[in-house]
Amino acid sequence: MLECLPQVPEDSILGLAAACRADPNPRKVDLTVGIYMNEEGLCPVFDAIRLAQDALVQEERTKAYMPPAGDPGFNSGMQQLVLGLGSPALLDGRVSSIQTPGGCGALRVGAEIINAAAPGARVWVSDPTWPVHIPLLGSVGLQFATYRYYDPASHGVNFDALVEDLKGARHGDVVLLHGCCHNPCGADLSLEQWAQIADMADHQGFLPFIDIAYQGLGDGLDADAAGLRLLVERLPEVLIAASCSKNMGLYRERTGATLFVSANPASAAALRTQAQVAARRIYSMPPAHGALLAARVLQDEALNANWRNELEAMCWRINGLRTSLVSKLEQCTGRDFGFIEREKGMFSFLGLSADQALALREQYSVYMLDSSRINVAGINGANIDYLAESVGKVLQAG
Ligand code: LMR
Repeated sequence: MLECLPQVPEDSILGLAAACRADPNPRKVDLTVGIYMNEEGLCPVFDAIRLAQDALVQEERTKAYMPPAGDPGFNSGMQQLVLGLGSPALLDGRVSSIQTPGGCGALRVGAEIINAAAPGARVWVSDPTWPVHIPLLGSVGLQFATYRYYDPASHGVNFDALVEDLKGARHGDVVLLHGCCHNPCGADLSLEQWAQIADMADHQGFLPFIDIAYQGLGDGLDADAAGLRLLVERLPEVLIAASCSKNMGLYRERTGATLFVSANPASAAALRTQAQVAARRIYSMPPAHGALLAARVLQDEALNANWRNELEAMCWRINGLRTSLVSKLEQCTGRDFGFIEREKGMFSFLGLSADQALALREQYSVYMLDSSRINVAGINGANIDYLAESVGKVLQAG
């Protein structure tokens, strides 16, 4: 029976990471998957997470199942982290959440809830968006429309086009927004633009679904959530998918949360029960380890301060890498790459063609996505010159 299934192409991101791992060239540069790499080219464990883990290993007495909604301490910590301590929606009891297996699990649970409320609902996604958004939400049965977002000519958000397209979003539609550090382009909305989207959601009645996977890696934890918080303040309902992969370095521990901001406390509570049932259908209950670590880091004052400092240092380093890359690329190409400095988080497009990205891979072992999306956090002092020189040579070759 199963023989009828053909081989399928590898994932457009993970497949390239695997190809890079297999490349024997000692000068290879991996700018594929969005993970933070330090100067030594390693994805480090946060100090606060290591300390929390040491304590957890000593204290943990059971590996019994987690409840389907996950750890209550983790859930309340994530609500405060994402929405802010003084969030009126939180204080009014209009928020519930469940712990999920990573940000992907959070998106999937969010999609299940949308589909339960409005089967086959239309989700508006930015052009471009993270390629996994489509299969993740689409496999539940949701439909898609796209809104224009990134303008390759100006290397920024084409907000007029976004507004024009989202005028078509109606009550019953969902608009998927990147909370910060847009993946793949790094071009973010200004607070004024978030306010305009809030007005549109208010007038047109669409539901914002915000994917915030990179909080803390753009301008800081609170600044990165400012647009999201503005929507939450202004609208009765907002769905949020949050992740601890990047800002706590818990990638492989699959730690995330779906947050439901609802019109009233009864609806928030109802949505949590719906999400628990959805979770039971898909994976039953979330993995414990990462969320228990995150909960400690979110609750313990000393660990929290330690974590915030390390995250801030990462954020500064990424922004510093952006500045260095701009000047190295300009030296090697004579072109203006200043837009990279204006973008946020791990990703930027270099503005190369798919053929040029392929040439970089095949001739120089420099790995980026075909769209020329680079993971800025994969750059370090040892590879930045080689990267810029390789881009220069490929651009010169036409
Ligand atoms: C990325 O876009 O590289 C990250 O979000 C990792 C992933 O799962 O694709």
